[in-house]
Amino acid sequence: MNAPIVELKSVGKSFRSADGTARSVLENVDFSLREGEIVALLGKSGSGKSTMLRIMAGLISADEGQVHYRGLPLYGPADGISMVFQSFALFPWLTVQKNVELGLEAKGMLPDERAIKAKAAIELIGLSGFEGALPRELSGGMRQRVGIARALVMEPEVLLMDEAFSALDVLTGERLREDILELWESGRLPTKAILVVSHNIEEAVMMADRVLVFASDPGRVRDELAVKLTRPREVEGSEVRGLIDKVYGLMTAGSMRAGRGADKGVKLGLGDRLPEVGISSMEGALEILAEEPYLGRADLPKLAEDTELNDHELLDVASALTLLGFAQLEQGDIMLTELGSRYALADQAERKAIFGQQLQNNVPLIAYIRHGLVQDPSGDLHEDLFLKLLHFTLSETDALAVLRVAVEWGRYGELFEYDFNTGILNMPASEEVDIT
Ligand SMILES: Nc1ncnc2c1ncn2[C@@H]1O[C@H](COP(=O)(O)OP(=O)(O)O)[C@@H](O)[C@H]1O
Ligand SMILES: [Mg+2]
Repeated sequence: MNAPIVELKSVGKSFRSADGTARSVLENVDFSLREGEIVALLGKSGSGKSTMLRIMAGLISADEGQVHYRGLPLYGPADGISMVFQSFALFPWLTVQKNVELGLEAKGMLPDERAIKAKAAIELIGLSGFEGALPRELSGGMRQRVGIARALVMEPEVLLMDEAFSALDVLTGERLREDILELWESGRLPTKAILVVSHNIEEAVMMADRVLVFASDPGRVRDELAVKLTRPREVEGSEVRGLIDKVYGLMTAGSMRAGRGADKGVKLGLGDRLPEVGISSMEGALEILAEEPYLGRADLPKLAEDTELNDHELLDVASALTLLGFAQLEQGDIMLTELGSRYALADQAERKAIFGQQLQNNVPLIAYIRHGLVQDPSGDLHEDLFLKLLHFTLSETDALAVLRVAVEWGRYGELFEYDFNTGILNMPASEEVDIT
């Protein structure tokens, strides 16, 4: 095995939320990035991937464990490590050339020297001729190339790419990815190792020598898959398709094991996250799944194409359907349950009734809200009550997100109503008791 460049050993990190309680975002993260490899990191949003990258770059410190760069403890921003972010973060009033020169200028390099270096980086990434352009004159893909040139001009040993292709349309993202891989293979990059965070399984399998699957709550490396294929890889080839299937399998199996949206009797807790999935995506997927050619069973990557959902959206839909007892997951396949098939055929009224029932049985938070409303003499309660409850285990943003999902689902299942202006939850009008 090649020498490690950056090493994380039992790294932990907590953030303090608004009310002062600490929340563990990373726990026991062990990871080495080695010379000569590209590693891809996949995981749900909010699982701590960006936090891990920022720790690796020395931008923030770990609370626990050790971070080593070339065998030495890392105490601050490391010179040999550059990051590329999803948002291009270019200075709008500076030309491409000046944007790329910024980091060199900060290091105190003389104007002539940095002009030459920046020009070379701009050429390397395919932007020759645009040195004098302003960011607003460029397409999104070109702007991201400037972002990459700005990282490469520093001649980093390690390049950390945080969803660098996510904001681009699919074709533009693919082209940029291919160009980077070509540079990597040709040895023209100054870089010795690359870590890419992605939410696209195909992208991970196309690029990486190793694909790591991150678990959430708290974040840690849960699975690892080696990709022993030479580059460039055939995107429609059977090896790549097989590996994509395998990663899907790992990711769904993982969300099951973690008990988040699980079947086999693993129940959700009151303060757990809910998959952020709307009713229409859930019903859309159920319907497509019930019809030809699937007839109740589908390969997840294929279903992703047919539903036009990205991998994370589809995995969230899959875990919502599983959580509610409408589907089961098995090795990268999703299968409708009997109830799921019935639901797909039902009319609106029956669907709502089934949905409400499943919510009460499987989503403790919703059952709890409903119970509270039934018990409360006034029949209405303020959402703050439930937000406070969620805030014991989740950050403020996450608590809000979970409550939004619970409200949308609960309203659809006719378990309660919600006033968006006042934040008050109350019993559905149809159930209000006449007390006169
Ligand atoms: N500076 C911070 N202060 C408080 N919470 C944070 C901070 N940065 C990230 N978090 C929280 O840590 C969790 C992980 O965030 P992040 O690393 O950005 O995840 P990912 O990149 O996997 O989407 C999230 O719940 C986020 O709200
Ligand atoms: Mg992130």
